Amino acid sequence: PSSFGFEPWHFIVVQDKDLRELLKPVAWGAPVKLDTASHFILGLAMKAPMVKHNAEYIEHMMKDVKQMPEDVVEMYSKFYREFQERDFNLDSDKKLFDWSSKQTYIALGNMMTAAALTGIDSCPIEGFHIEETEALLRDKFEVDTDKYGISFMAAFGYRKADPEFPKSRRAFEDIVTWK
Ligand SMILES: Cc1cc2nc3c(=O)[nH]c(=O)nc-3n(C[C@H](O)[C@H](O)[C@H](O)COP(=O)(O)O)c2cc1C
Repeated sequence: PSSFGFEPWHFIVVQDKDLRELLKPVAWGAPVKLDTASHFILGLAMKAPMVKHNAEYIEHMMKDVKQMPEDVVEMYSKFYREFQERDFNLDSDKKLFDWSSKQTYIALGNMMTAAALTGIDSCPIEGFHIEETEALLRDKFEVDTDKYGISFMAAFGYRKADPEFPKSRRAFEDIVTWK
């Protein structure tokens, strides 16, 4: 799922060894995973020119993907513009990109849970330099970085050995309040 159903994302599955090698210098949180993961994913989020309320892509989503009739498109567009301008105050390119990134994290969480349910481990990765990663995306991955930015990386695979330490998590009462 994504807000308004606009799916402001793209995912690159990096299986090519040379491309994985290029990622190592820009992604300090990933070197071991780049060497060993069965699947390595770059999660891209759409930038302002794609997701602003009057963007061509938004119109394409409503008309072509969602197959909305003209009057519904008009109503939905109005809601979306008000959401951006009035409710969420998405008044800069950075805010719009961060909103898209939030949507990609839903996909990330679902990917990881779905993988875990079938016995596949995963590691989400934020250990990377954004500008350097985007330069690489532009130069070596054929990504239009005016339209897309890097949101997350993630590694997937079967574990080679069990973890050394048990998982640590905060107590349920500390993180949930009932009213
Ligand atoms: C958004 C996010 C970014 C993360 N970035 C990295 C990373 O760059 N490298 C890494 O090895 N682990 C990374 N992690 C993994 C966390 O360190 C890990 O989930 C946390 O320590 C809990 O580990 P556990 O689930 O094995 O108990 C990241 C986790 C999240 C949710």
